[in-house]
Amino acid sequence: MNLCKFFSSVRNLYWKKKKPSLGKYVIVKPGKVSPRKFVPDHIPKPSYYLTGEPTENIEHPDIKNEQQIQRMRASCRLAANILKKIGENIKVGQTTDEIDISVYETCIQCGAYPSPLNYKHFPKSVCTSVNNVACHGIPDDRPLEDGDIINVDITVFYNGYHGDCSQTFLVGNVDSEGKELVRATEICLNEAIEICKPGQYFRAIGAFIEGRAHQLGFRVVPAFIGHGIGHYFHGPPDIYHFKNSYPGVMEAGMTFTIEPILTQGEELIEILHDNWTAVTYDCARTAQFEHTVLITDSGADILTLPN
Ligand code: MF3
Ligand code: CO
Ligand code: CO
Repeated sequence: MNLCKFFSSVRNLYWKKKKPSLGKYVIVKPGKVSPRKFVPDHIPKPSYYLTGEPTENIEHPDIKNEQQIQRMRASCRLAANILKKIGENIKVGQTTDEIDISVYETCIQCGAYPSPLNYKHFPKSVCTSVNNVACHGIPDDRPLEDGDIINVDITVFYNGYHGDCSQTFLVGNVDSEGKELVRATEICLNEAIEICKPGQYFRAIGAFIEGRAHQLGFRVVPAFIGHGIGHYFHGPPDIYHFKNSYPGVMEAGMTFTIEPILTQGEELIEILHDNWTAVTYDCARTAQFEHTVLITDSGADILTLPN
């Protein structure tokens, strides 16, 4: 029995009044992955470069000092500039492997390490997640098709600090349902950043995003969370994107990501046998946006903005 089709029909019955259609798009099956790249000696490497296992053990959200903040700003700006350049060049027929090559080469030119490469054995320099792939898509030989939506998630390790951001781009002519999903996801991220300030609960972000997503007619995929970031790729705090009871409040000098994934369909995801690719169980499309933010004395600065 084809589970994808089965779940689509159940979902379509269930949502008939509210959501007459999930639109027109191609369900993605992963393609062929090219061999792993190595990084030249002169580029400073993160702890996991050789082993695939990060060694940092961060117990509490850390407060960055001025010098650390300057370094975070630089790595986040670089990640955002690379993401912008990739976005400007996305086109029908381009493979996600070509996007990976471009991210890898730009990082090396800039003296940065592409953080995903060998992070917990991830095989590539960037995550590329198309249509029903929720996140952690591995770049491969599949050419982008007219009407695809693709999340490109860029993290760089630069000057000893990671900067992490992602956007979902439209490829050619995307149907109105897809455009709405992408727009809603970006709204959820941007408005969630506006509630961040010293003294605010981390858990307020999730309560806000879940409520806003439902207002806009979408659901949050709960399996993936934002995270503290610094000389480590992922650390405390955990930033859930749905109503939760995670403890703790924001303090000036903290840096973390917010990275909601919204879906047109059901929340459930499945990890494929490559151990990374997360696809929706019902094959509905998802979109994701991510920024790294810094808590300041009065609110939050988005660090992952391009020049
Ligand atoms: N960039 C992703 C995030 O937003 C993490 C990707 S893990 C990787 O947290 F190994 F796939 F890179
Ligand atoms: Co990311
Ligand atoms: Co992240």
